[in-house]
Amino acid sequence: MSKENQATNYSSYLLLEKILNAQEPRSKSHPGGAEHDELLFIIIHQVFELWFKQLLHELDFVCKQLHTGDLGRTLHVLKRVRSIIKVMVSQVDVIETMTPLDFSAFRSRLDSASGLQSVQFREIEFTLGFKRETVLRRYSPDSQEYATLKSRLEAPSLWDAFLKFIAGRDYPVPQEMLATVSQSEIVASEAIIKILEDIYHKDPKLTQLCESLIDLDEGIQEWRYRHVKMVQRTIGMKQGTGGSDGANYLMASLDKPIFPDLWQVRMSL
Ligand code: HEM
Repeated sequence: MSKENQATNYSSYLLLEKILNAQEPRSKSHPGGAEHDELLFIIIHQVFELWFKQLLHELDFVCKQLHTGDLGRTLHVLKRVRSIIKVMVSQVDVIETMTPLDFSAFRSRLDSASGLQSVQFREIEFTLGFKRETVLRRYSPDSQEYATLKSRLEAPSLWDAFLKFIAGRDYPVPQEMLATVSQSEIVASEAIIKILEDIYHKDPKLTQLCESLIDLDEGIQEWRYRHVKMVQRTIGMKQGTGGSDGANYLMASLDKPIFPDLWQVRMSL
């Protein structure tokens, strides 16, 4: 039977041959043999990258649904997004079973590799609305990574889609916010906070949407918190392999909200 005629099975459908052969612990070639925990370290990062891919897929879909005005579908998918983030946060438990000595046995083999370079993580930040053009400087302008991030930087974010959506429901979003795609992080605006106040008081369906967005924001902050604690217990205050200040660098973004208006409106409710 030729290859095209072979029936699809579990393994061929999932391309398991590719996936299960995509782990190559660098310590394998070490005279002392592979370090036991390096496989876990590789797999946990790969699993996260797969979840990142799924999150991007769902977030793009949410933006489309908001564009077409389908609130029901939007809420449904945002619930899924929240569940994925919760799974991602809980997966930190697994990598925390690696002791500092287990990690230091192979850490030098990472060279300058670091989560700091994860393109999909930055894509998620940009898609939500947490955009910083400076992030692009880490990539060569002629690389695929640069092009991907630039197009995310220039595309409307989930927050832009949300503002358009509520404007479509006759809330007075300032025209300049609808006409431009911001390429920097979201800055709270009095006009939007006032609209959110109205929504919370009078519009239960849109309140649900706002709560779904804040769930998402809180979920990302939870991930940042668990990640920095994991970093502190594994490498203390050492420098990161990506060249940053390590835990100190990570702590700077700990409390950073993605949707500041949604946090600020709490003060007036
Ligand atoms: C023992 C495990 C880990 C350690 C010690 C660690 C350490 C670090 C450090 C020190 C940084 C700061 C950048 C630098 O390298 O200089 C960083 C950033 C980052 N790491 Fe990890 N990490 C670990 C596991 C993970 C896992 C499992 C993921 C999942 C993908 C991950 C994703 C990231 C991301 C996305 C950043 C960039 C964060 C930002 O810039 O806001 N890390 N990590």
